[in-house]
Amino acid sequence: MLRLNVNIDHVATVRNARGGFEPDPVEAAMIAERAGAEGIVAHLREDRRHIKDADLRRLKEIVTTKLDLEMGANEEIIQIALKTIPELVTIVPENRMELTTEGGLNVSGDIDRFTKLVDRMHEKAIKVSFFIEPEMKQIDAVLASGGDMVEFHTGIYANAINQVDMDSEFLKVKSSSKYAHKNGLLIAAGHGLNYQNTKLISSISEINELSIGHSIISRAVFVGLEQAIMEMLELMN
Ligand code: PXP
Repeated sequence: MLRLNVNIDHVATVRNARGGFEPDPVEAAMIAERAGAEGIVAHLREDRRHIKDADLRRLKEIVTTKLDLEMGANEEIIQIALKTIPELVTIVPENRMELTTEGGLNVSGDIDRFTKLVDRMHEKAIKVSFFIEPEMKQIDAVLASGGDMVEFHTGIYANAINQVDMDSEFLKVKSSSKYAHKNGLLIAAGHGLNYQNTKLISSISEINELSIGHSIISRAVFVGLEQAIMEMLELMN
């Protein structure tokens, strides 16, 4: 069964718009788990634009499924991860000016650095996933660095402007999933997945988890978070 990890960053974005306490991303995490999510994803960015340090501490207390801390590989955030000890960290490229994560991490460009990062996380029993493009070169680099998991970037698939491009990117995700699975990695996929494009990605049997935020939180505005998550789960399985 394909598992759903819900990214709650956008709940924090709405809260921060008024600088107060609501809506509370931690309450969103509790509702998401009740609705069937099997993981909660929160991205602690260097600029703290959505999730704050206190949110992360509270999430660590209440999440009963799996806390996935999405993070750039910078020393300040690494220290926070090592102190918080989430079940999983997902390493993403982080650029201060971007609206959201724009693409996969170039693990192959700096295998030594990422190997050291994996070792440090493993010392605290934290599993490590790398957010990468669906490319053999990057999968090999994750294997070389000792990572436990890959998350394939599906933004190119999701934002394709015609069927040919969408099909071609889908095939890349599919063949990369087969390759990563054959080599013993756990596989997630995410970015830009919504109520229209998730079903096809869900047909790739090697994928273990999807990580979805924006479309679920957007739908939740109209139908409530629990309902939005249940609808997504139904599409996935
Ligand atoms: N996975 C990663 C690594 C991401 O950076 C994001 C966006 O925060 C997501 C999944 C979720 O993407 P979306 O909000 O488009 O569903």
